[in-house]
Amino acid sequence: MTASGSADLVIVANRLPVDRVVDTDGTLRWRRSPGGLVSALEPVMRVHQGAWIGWPGGTDEELEPFVEDGLQLVPVTLSAREVEEFYEGFSNATLWPLYHDVVAKPLFKREWWEAYKRVNQRFAERAAEVAAPGAMVWVHDYQMQLVPQMLRDLRPDLKIGFFLHIPFPPAELFNQLPWRRQVLEGLLGADIVGFHLPGGAQNFVRLVRTRVGHKTHRDLITLPDGRPVRAGAYPISIDASDFEDLARSPEVTRRAEAIRKALGNPKRVLLGVDRLDYTKGIYPRLRAYAELVADGTFDVEATVFVQVATPSRERVDEYRRMRDEIDMLVGRVNGDLGRIGRPAISYLHSSYPREEMAALYRAADIMVVTPYRDGMNLVCKEYVACRYDNDGALVLSEFAGAAHELSQAWLVNPYDINGMKAAIVEAATADPKEITRRMKAMRKTVSEHDVDRWATGFLDELDAVKPMKPPIRRRPRRTAG
Ligand code: G6P
Repeated sequence: MTASGSADLVIVANRLPVDRVVDTDGTLRWRRSPGGLVSALEPVMRVHQGAWIGWPGGTDEELEPFVEDGLQLVPVTLSAREVEEFYEGFSNATLWPLYHDVVAKPLFKREWWEAYKRVNQRFAERAAEVAAPGAMVWVHDYQMQLVPQMLRDLRPDLKIGFFLHIPFPPAELFNQLPWRRQVLEGLLGADIVGFHLPGGAQNFVRLVRTRVGHKTHRDLITLPDGRPVRAGAYPISIDASDFEDLARSPEVTRRAEAIRKALGNPKRVLLGVDRLDYTKGIYPRLRAYAELVADGTFDVEATVFVQVATPSRERVDEYRRMRDEIDMLVGRVNGDLGRIGRPAISYLHSSYPREEMAALYRAADIMVVTPYRDGMNLVCKEYVACRYDNDGALVLSEFAGAAHELSQAWLVNPYDINGMKAAIVEAATADPKEITRRMKAMRKTVSEHDVDRWATGFLDELDAVKPMKPPIRRRPRRTAG
């Protein structure tokens, strides 16, 4: 149980870092979610008596704060209607497509906005309750953009940081949002607003200047009361050494061999791993590959494409539509080009534990990551971390944040099918020395900039923020009586 006002570090994110598991006998358990964020934050959480505020999934279930594996977790309940309007609606059918280059059409519904405000207020209130005096609160991602200002109104003593895990769009797109000014003002409640790339920070600063009218100088915004807000780039990463250790384990090594065997020991395995999301460019990638099989460049006896598509946001219309489109494409490609026991695409609509992912990364010769737009993309960094022999090629979209760091990948434009085909063929036929040269450089980047460095870098800067002195109250002038 979290004592009120006791946490020196509070993480606010839409989801708690645990998944609910119901055992066969019906008992409820929590299991740590696999993401790197929680493992990166765990050490600092322990040092700072940290608490994590988030939605436990599900609806209408009032849960008391609890401790799991030493982490203090504070659940925030959402009603079924809020899941529909705040989570599926405003977060994932308005903001998600708007911030990803309008790859799908964003829907603007006034009742969704009302739910977004209400839920953000609830998260801010929970944070205000658990934070110790002068504590640091780190708010995460697009679902929580109003929390910084709401929290500052409740608790001006706190140091508040915000990090956006998805791209921040240019003004030309952001300005479509009917509530653009409110969202900017919500973010400005933070002392530091973090993005993956300098371009996101620049978009934000420019919007604050033109839309809200505050003074800005480079990455610094000065509010009318003199409080500074810094916008910066903090590219996220993974726990690289942990992934590498996993990849080196005998179990994963055996499993990687078993995967290749099950695929018929082909000469070449191509791999795609994504949440099943329309931003990920799964469709054009599979089309590019299918054309290479159809024109005889690749033969299904020798080459296979393994595509893992993790189910996601399945009740949102756009996701349903895209699942149907991909199901149809895979069915058609395998029907037209596959042979008995040799599908062109081995398609898995499922999520897997980290061990299985590491084995897949080890089993692949070429990883193909082709989002239309992606804040960072951690899957490609995981692949790089697992290639400890400096082998394996990476084909990567130039529109993934990771392309800024992994510039030695074969970079592609996912809208250009012929360009993608050419890059895949180049990667497939490259001299092993060339593959090693590229992979070595990428591995150096990924091992040096891991998620621990990301988290401590951000939190050190937040810690160094000087608290604002409360405004000096002028004594009311006495009037001669
Ligand atoms: C992206 C977002 C996260 C989100 C995750 C999974 O990575 O940036 O905030 O948690 O997708 O999506 P979900 O809707 O299942 O939480």
